[in-house]
Amino acid sequence: MPSPKIAPSILSADFAYLAQEIEKVAPESDLLHVDVMDGHFVPNLTIGPPVVKSLREHTDLFLDCHLMVSNPGVLLADFAEAGANRCIVHIEIGDPQPLFAQLRSLGVEVGLTLNPDTPIETVLPYLNEIDLLLVMSVNPGFGGQAFIPEVLEKVRTARDKADEMGLDLDIEIDGGITATTAPLATAAGANVLVAGSAIFRAPDPAKAAREIRAAAWA
Ligand code: DX5
Ligand code: ZN
Repeated sequence: MPSPKIAPSILSADFAYLAQEIEKVAPESDLLHVDVMDGHFVPNLTIGPPVVKSLREHTDLFLDCHLMVSNPGVLLADFAEAGANRCIVHIEIGDPQPLFAQLRSLGVEVGLTLNPDTPIETVLPYLNEIDLLLVMSVNPGFGGQAFIPEVLEKVRTARDKADEMGLDLDIEIDGGITATTAPLATAAGANVLVAGSAIFRAPDPAKAAREIRAAAWA
């Protein structure tokens, strides 16, 4: 299994103080998760390449950009230019291979994700073409939702398949991750934990991140 990583999601941070919010969690973070929403693929609107560019100027952390957008192809070059390290695209929008090719040519890591209701079989054919598989554990669009435990079976299936193929695949989980749900996710085979509200809505975000890490890899 690849190394364990904590990825705070800035969606639950105070956008007016992003740089300070990130400084609070940076010592406990292996990467930063950036939720991009277009008001079309999901019923919410957040941030895009200009904010990624500003983040890049303030942090050396790996920027993991989760694209909850209907047409990511038109944005990938801008994300690359802005300093994104990885772009994660949704399988629900259709054939991801042209997007993978575009990301590779831009020198950006490739992530693929699926919604809670989407069967794991839709992404298994692509495991050897991606750097990371993200299993959504809430319906994308908003922070602060409850973890959907039924997705753990999909994490197990993906980890088994990756092992069978000899792939050291990063499997990330996103949505409702807390010190209580994190150990369920890692036991199922996830090694990258995204957490938004559990970290940024805590009185001490760094401590909250430490507690999730300790619970997940006890
Ligand atoms: C939801 C986003 C998540 C979100 C998770 O659409 O993809 O990354 O920030 O927030 P929490 O951890 O609060 O469920
Ligand atoms: Zn996300």
